[in-house]
Amino acid sequence: MHGLVRRTSSLNRDRIDGLRDAAKARSLPFELHYGNLIDPLGLQAVIGRVKPSEIYNLASESHVGISFEEPEHSTSVNAVGVLRLLEIMRLTRPECRFYQASTSELFGGLALRPREASPGAARSPECVCTETSPFEPISPYAIAKQYAHAMTAFYRRGYGLHASNGILFNHESPRRGFNFVTRKITATLARIARGADEVLFLGNLDSRRDWGYAPDYVRAMWMITTADVADDYVIATGETRSVREFVERAAAVAGFEIAWEGAGPAEAGYDRATGRRLVAVEPRFFRPLDHSSICGSAAKAKAVLGWEPTVGFGRLVEIMMESDLGRA
Ligand code: GDD
Repeated sequence: MHGLVRRTSSLNRDRIDGLRDAAKARSLPFELHYGNLIDPLGLQAVIGRVKPSEIYNLASESHVGISFEEPEHSTSVNAVGVLRLLEIMRLTRPECRFYQASTSELFGGLALRPREASPGAARSPECVCTETSPFEPISPYAIAKQYAHAMTAFYRRGYGLHASNGILFNHESPRRGFNFVTRKITATLARIARGADEVLFLGNLDSRRDWGYAPDYVRAMWMITTADVADDYVIATGETRSVREFVERAAAVAGFEIAWEGAGPAEAGYDRATGRRLVAVEPRFFRPLDHSSICGSAAKAKAVLGWEPTVGFGRLVEIMMESDLGRA
């Protein structure tokens, strides 16, 4: 197993340290190489040295919110970076299989189209996305990912590479970065539960996501890449939950019951037992454009690959919250 890591001023590899131990326990080789998707010569050198049989391209400027602030960098890494990898593969290692981390963000704009709520329903129905749903990216991140998605499909059709796109909806775990909403919630509430004098500041509480468990989704990546025929697959749970619901569930695991008061930017969540303010809305965490209710149908992945998620929303929140309570 070989991994590509970016050079950073301080080492931040704690999330992959476990891989080294796991490889060692199985007597498998494990090697890290410096590389960067914006540096084609470096990529070519690593691929030439390693001669991989499968490449999983999970490298990305993966924060959608930050892509509004660094759109050109997002494009260089998330769009052109993928072209660089594919072109090196085509020229030097065409037998290698390729997995591209495509994304549900490609469908974002579909959620902004008006949809009719059924009579008596509290909100509009979810937009259920499949491999044939139209792409409507609504962030610099998603626009770059659409290019990468199309290039991957093009190298498959045009040059016969075994190149696949996994169109993954949100996938979370205790390894999630702290500036993504799920981990931000569990890490902050865990610190508060352990006595920290903090408030959890969030953006849009009513944003909805189809949240699954990352290990299930990594299994899907492997199934997609090792399938006989390369293709594109949606990987999702098929249901959405709001940021607000995530907060309530996580707070319950930490021993709090949230009572919401106020509206819009003045809304806050209080601990019902003590009246202490635990959650507040902070306008800077809102995005210029965001979506709030798309979910995915993984019917094709189930039919062709036999993939199904094993962990539902409630258990996912428990796993993340319990892990952060343990760390805190
Ligand atoms: N990050 C963040 N921070 N998001 C917040 C916050 C906050 O304080 N408050 C509310 N949100 C809302 C965002 O506006 C968004 O609607 C939702 O919570 C989820 O945001 P993120 O956790 O940042 O994830 P994402 O959905 O934008 O993107 C993730 O999933 C995609 C699909 O798999 C990333 O992992 C992407 O790289 C990935 O493509």
